[in-house]
Amino acid sequence: MRASERWAAQLAGWAIPDEILEGASTSPWQLDAATFAVDDTLDRSTLAAAIARAELPAAGGSVLDVGCGGGRASMALVPPAEFVIGVDESHAMLASFSGAADAAVVESLAIPGRWPDVASDTPRADVVVCHHTAYNVADIVPFVDALTDHARGAVVMVLPALHPRSAWNEAWKHFWGLDRPTGPTASDFADVLAELRIDAVRWEMPRPALSRHGEDPATLVPTALRILCLGEDRRDDVAAYLDAHEPAWVRMHDVFRWSGTAR
Ligand SMILES: C[S@@+](CC[C@H](N)C(=O)[O-])C[C@H]1O[C@@H](n2cnc3c(N)ncnc32)[C@H](O)[C@@H]1O
Repeated sequence: MRASERWAAQLAGWAIPDEILEGASTSPWQLDAATFAVDDTLDRSTLAAAIARAELPAAGGSVLDVGCGGGRASMALVPPAEFVIGVDESHAMLASFSGAADAAVVESLAIPGRWPDVASDTPRADVVVCHHTAYNVADIVPFVDALTDHARGAVVMVLPALHPRSAWNEAWKHFWGLDRPTGPTASDFADVLAELRIDAVRWEMPRPALSRHGEDPATLVPTALRILCLGEDRRDDVAAYLDAHEPAWVRMHDVFRWSGTAR
């Protein structure tokens, strides 16, 4: 099996059985815009930011942020970046991105839609960043190709070493008796790049700080209920479980940098 097919097949393994999904009041895959918002926790000194910043000129540089969320990847590059483009399929995330750009007093463009479907409407940029989005993308080859052909300098991709939902695998076993997958991993993504003959450099870095909302302990139980497709009636059980079992947070992230082909 090709690496890109293995990537898609492993992602398909995360599907939640229909009988569990039918009982869920909100989608377990829903992402909260507040979790990905730019706030005072934003770390501009991460390895990924340094690698991306090296692609920017001292003035007038542009960043394209694909799967931008609230813009934590691109806003870490302002300054020196003077133009930030965000692409996201979620309107709530894009509104958060635009608000962050306004607060940073930087020119911005928000493009709603799915990458690479909206790639032809998206300007090219000096550097393309894509953080924490690859595990959402089954059809990874056109996604990566469109990143590459939008970067004049380089693409900088960040993904957790393991699928982030693997943090909840033990809880799935506890509450539903279900074994969840562990792949794909960042190494599977490296295999995809190799298959595409993309010459990428790969580093590891510690997980950067989350937003204040993402770190807020008060969000843990509601998040767990949603992710585990459990109703409010299980709130006390989930709280007691989490007191004794911290989710297996993925604390290492992989950074990939490869050259773009845009002119
Ligand atoms: C886990 S969040 C990460 C947000 C941000 N990059 C960060 O690191 O804080 C993933 C984001 O990617 C978006 N997304 C996922 N697949 C996408 C696609 N194919 N095209 C555009 N946006 C996508 C989601 O809506 C979400 O905002």
